[in-house]
Amino acid sequence: MTTPSIAVRVRGVAKSFGGTRILEGIDVEIAAGTVHALVGENGAGKSSLGKIIGGYYMPDEGEVEILGARVARFSPRDALGLGVAMIHQELQLAPELNVVQNVFLGRESQRAGILVGGDTARFAALEKACDFGIDPLAKVATLRIAERQKVEIMRAIARDAQVIIMDEPTSSLTEDEADRLHEVIRRLKGQGKTVIYVSHFLDHILANCDNVTIMRDGKVVRTSPMTGETKQTLVDSMLGQAAEILWPALPAAPAETLPPIAELRGVSTGTGLSDVSLVIRPGEIVGLVGLVGSGRTEVARALFGADRITGGEYLIEGAPARGRFTVHDAIAAGVALVPEDRRKQGLVLTQPTRFNISLGTLGRISRFGILDRGAEIRQTREMIGHFGIVPGAIDGRVARYSGGNQQKVLLSKWAVAKPKLLILDEPSRGVDIGARRRIHDFIVEMARQGVGVLLISSELEEVINLSHRCYLLSEGRIFAEEPAAALTVEAALTRVFLEQNSQRNRQEAAS
Ligand SMILES: Nc1ncnc2c1ncn2[C@@H]1O[C@H](COP(=O)(O)OP(=O)(O)O)[C@@H](O)[C@H]1O
Ligand SMILES: [Mg+2]
Repeated sequence: MTTPSIAVRVRGVAKSFGGTRILEGIDVEIAAGTVHALVGENGAGKSSLGKIIGGYYMPDEGEVEILGARVARFSPRDALGLGVAMIHQELQLAPELNVVQNVFLGRESQRAGILVGGDTARFAALEKACDFGIDPLAKVATLRIAERQKVEIMRAIARDAQVIIMDEPTSSLTEDEADRLHEVIRRLKGQGKTVIYVSHFLDHILANCDNVTIMRDGKVVRTSPMTGETKQTLVDSMLGQAAEILWPALPAAPAETLPPIAELRGVSTGTGLSDVSLVIRPGEIVGLVGLVGSGRTEVARALFGADRITGGEYLIEGAPARGRFTVHDAIAAGVALVPEDRRKQGLVLTQPTRFNISLGTLGRISRFGILDRGAEIRQTREMIGHFGIVPGAIDGRVARYSGGNQQKVLLSKWAVAKPKLLILDEPSRGVDIGARRRIHDFIVEMARQGVGVLLISSELEEVINLSHRCYLLSEGRIFAEEPAAALTVEAALTRVFLEQNSQRNRQEAAS
């Protein structure tokens, strides 16, 4: 039998939940041996379509064919039998088991749940192919989200699926890790496998996919080859209008004579920063431009008291931070950090929306030590409306929210707490364009209200368009400072690459 050229055919599929149509008249053909992108705003139906193909949902109408075989029963097990595996947006791992056990879960259960020696060898082969660098014996509960995502990816590959659906696989990965995943995807494609790739990162989509299906409001807008697509054409179709990728107008930069909120003078840390000097003034948005590993997050952590400063000086509103400056001291001084890994470091997942939003202001909305519930509820409602948090329940279960909505909850916390210095590490990572726009407006509004903002983002476009001033970093050092208006993405990238090369050359020459 020859391989059918269509790996997945979806015809006339419709699906409702509780009387609400979430998919309607879906027709898609996915060619075998291609990487096929699914894009659309939050709620467009990408995950639901993926779950129908992966056997997790049964369509109300229409039919699905996998590698030429019509799907008769919809279950993940049946889908796997036909060669389809899905990597979920909400990761589905057994936290108490280790990495190898999770990767081969379901397979080894056929052998009464006992992990056999062969699995370790098979894992080593898999690890060689993926090069993710995961400790095979680490318990999954102890892993960061990015590592868990890698475990899910390895599991799908281990199942030898012909069609792998990846639902936002890079949402918690660094740029470097995402590159490695894309390398794995290229290899899978080389072996004739089909990958359905759901993502908000349009750059990743444009660079790694052969075809794209754009969805909006539960319908397919169109399916097209990637050649000829640009960010603009994708966004226009996702939104259903010619949307300019507009950046909000920044308030005027503060005068250079305005005393800084935070200043680093020749700061070094044990985490690799060396001789870092920078200032952030009230009402100013300062961007850090650098490659992954250049020390951007380390600067954020030093300012937040999370890493110890071993040399130089840190001044907050002109006063030197004394002694062992801790996170506690930073918060007391009005410094806030929205970390890259929001699930782990920013939110209290066991608590509802209301609690998470008022976390930063508990002192202010309690009188005589008694929490003013009315004020807390009013504040929460206001923020849910302002950011468009979905679901909009004040006691919503944050743990179940999408990445974009979790990020909005986290930002709401700081919008009401009004810190003096707000450090944002990858604030719009993994959120859709609607949420992104709200986050950008929020950043600008904070600056307008006099908050000093330090912005870190792997998307240079974002840093350059949302900052007043940028520092360029490489290998833990700041090597240049520029008004953002003087930078372009290409120029900034070229400079950080050149600097890194010349630094490495100098180091080699010196050793
Ligand atoms: N199991 C479910 N029960 C009820 N509604 C659901 C369920 N799964 C998805 N939905 C709804 O379907 C719509 C599409 O969701 P989803 O497929 O997750 O979109 P996307 O992945 O594009 O963000 C949303 O309005 C969502 O709330
Ligand atoms: Mg989704």
